[in-house]
Amino acid sequence: MRRKKPRRASVPIQRIVRSYYNRDAKDYRSRFGKPAQHLELFARHLPPNARVLDAGCGPGVNLEWLRNQGHRVIGVDLSQKMLKTALRFNSGERVAQMDLQQLGFKNSRFDGIVAAFSLIHIPRENLSRALNEFSRVLTPKGIAHVSFQEGKGGERFVKRTSDPHSVYMNVLSRSQSQNALKNAGFEIVATFVRKPRRGEWPFDKRTWLVRKARRPTRTPRVKKTSKSLQ
Ligand SMILES: C[S@@+](CC[C@H](N)C(=O)[O-])C[C@H]1O[C@@H](n2cnc3c(N)ncnc32)[C@H](O)[C@@H]1O
Repeated sequence: MRRKKPRRASVPIQRIVRSYYNRDAKDYRSRFGKPAQHLELFARHLPPNARVLDAGCGPGVNLEWLRNQGHRVIGVDLSQKMLKTALRFNSGERVAQMDLQQLGFKNSRFDGIVAAFSLIHIPRENLSRALNEFSRVLTPKGIAHVSFQEGKGGERFVKRTSDPHSVYMNVLSRSQSQNALKNAGFEIVATFVRKPRRGEWPFDKRTWLVRKARRPTRTPRVKKTSKSLQ
């Protein structure tokens, strides 16, 4: 029997992502409890006591690691349950429910941003919006650690049996993610790729360490946060 291809749902993508990770929040930290690869290298580029944004912080593993290095970290995520878990392990830290496509922070607020596999759920056509937001909230010369699923470029809808909807995922080729970062005003410091591990989605994992070099080519305007958080 042919397997049915998952189809784009009519429900907004962010809502599906949020409910997907709300369901997953309990187990996620036990399955993926290690800090992101190359986070140490990222941290070497930060000033002491840096202001860092964990963008799509999930259960707060990277947030915790960076906090233990003496940095002031704020975690944001779409999923309330992920944020709750993050707080359980990082009491006293600041977290907020926020869409990466519209960050509620002033310009140049952060010395560094970590976005470990969170941009993968942003629709392809909106990726530049989120990356431009990263660029906006970073200080000049601010540093970012960004990871993507890598493969032949494409958009996928992945499903677990317990979820009513398939969750959106963008899969980018190396040149696609590199160009997206460059267009948002970043210069490449380093990049790494590894094969998927057991239990992970079956795409190579690409991490970029990038530095803000100039203003983004174009900063699209978004009207209301509430809309993108629907
Ligand atoms: C694969 S998990 C990674 C979590 C965490 N960064 C880690 O490495 O453990 C992706 C996270 O990104 C969040 N996310 C996805 N799209 C988002 C968006 N548009 N705005 C904010 N968070 C988002 C999800 O809710 C989820 O917690």
